[in-house]
Amino acid sequence: MSKKRVLSGIQPTHDSFHLGNYLGAIKQWVELQKEHDAFYCVVDLHALTVETDPKLLEQRTLLSAAQLIALGVDPKLCTLFIQSQVPAHNQLAWVLECITGFGEAGRMTQFKDKSHKKGADRTNVGLFTYPILQAADILLYQADFVPVGEDQRQHIELTRDLGQRFNSKYKEVFNIPAAKIIKSLAKINDLQDPNSKMSKSATSMAGVVELMDTPDATIKKFKSSVTDAGKEIKFDEKEKPGISNLLTINSALSGKSIKDLENEFAGKGYGDFKLQVAEVVVEVLNPIRTRTLALVDDRAELLRMLKVGSEKANQVADKTLADVYSALGLIANG
Ligand code: AMP
Ligand code: TRP
Repeated sequence: MSKKRVLSGIQPTHDSFHLGNYLGAIKQWVELQKEHDAFYCVVDLHALTVETDPKLLEQRTLLSAAQLIALGVDPKLCTLFIQSQVPAHNQLAWVLECITGFGEAGRMTQFKDKSHKKGADRTNVGLFTYPILQAADILLYQADFVPVGEDQRQHIELTRDLGQRFNSKYKEVFNIPAAKIIKSLAKINDLQDPNSKMSKSATSMAGVVELMDTPDATIKKFKSSVTDAGKEIKFDEKEKPGISNLLTINSALSGKSIKDLENEFAGKGYGDFKLQVAEVVVEVLNPIRTRTLALVDDRAELLRMLKVGSEKANQVADKTLADVYSALGLIANG
């Protein structure tokens, strides 16, 4: 039996992924590539919906790809590519835009939230059509599953609707994908505000553990992490959100159970515990950071790896696009 195909994408909007991204998404990508025909892309075209300095976008796209590889997304096992290197994404997006209702696109909650915050005049049309480009990313590859966080469920529903609509209106071209909502291996909260999810949109990065932080910076963030009243190292999300978050992080990265950690630290103070968590985190993240920097440093080799990915992606995508064009009555060249 042939392997099921998965496809997912991640935006290069920051210099570094954080611990939540790793445990909440990328670690699962790494697992899925083993048993699936996996396509993963850095969605740089989606990142254009937020105005970014061109040099910075370029840097972030390469850093994102390098971090994925350093975290275990293996270009030999999966197809890793940069979205803008596959022109069919834009080409299919236009076709799908022509079968999407204006109201339908306007009902996307992510669009509503973002445009509401900015106001209509400062909201670009790209933000409005963003989910349709995402549908194109997915449908081009005839994906079976799309591993994403809960917040993306509505976009995958739209993708399914558009795929089905095209199939019944014109021709059965698309496989209809299912969302594979990934539950985080651990819910990671902000070190400074342990009642809120660790997020790249936090007002301060002091509580966000970034993969590209230096060991010193990581240790500093853990040393100044917010803890709770009392002095016992005990998991209790309600009464001790700070200590519970540190226990979660420690357990997710060391593989030790929370119970074992509680026993190990029985009678010890918060200070010792914070330092030990920092050490565990540095031990996991520092090699990843070093490998990322080495990959980015050898730009030619990194680009070569990504080119192998985009060549494979272009082949699959072009085949689907040719079927779509032919079904629509667009005349093939030649
Ligand atoms: P984002 O682009 O910030 O929405 O995050 C990309 C992926 O990382 C999503 O699939 C989220 O489910 C996951 N993620 C982000 N933050 C966290 C967190 N604090 N804990 C667990 N998973 C997270
Ligand atoms: N919108 C997704 C996010 O913000 C990123 C994305 C773009 C994506 N294209 C995709 C995810 C295709 C899965 C499949 O997380």
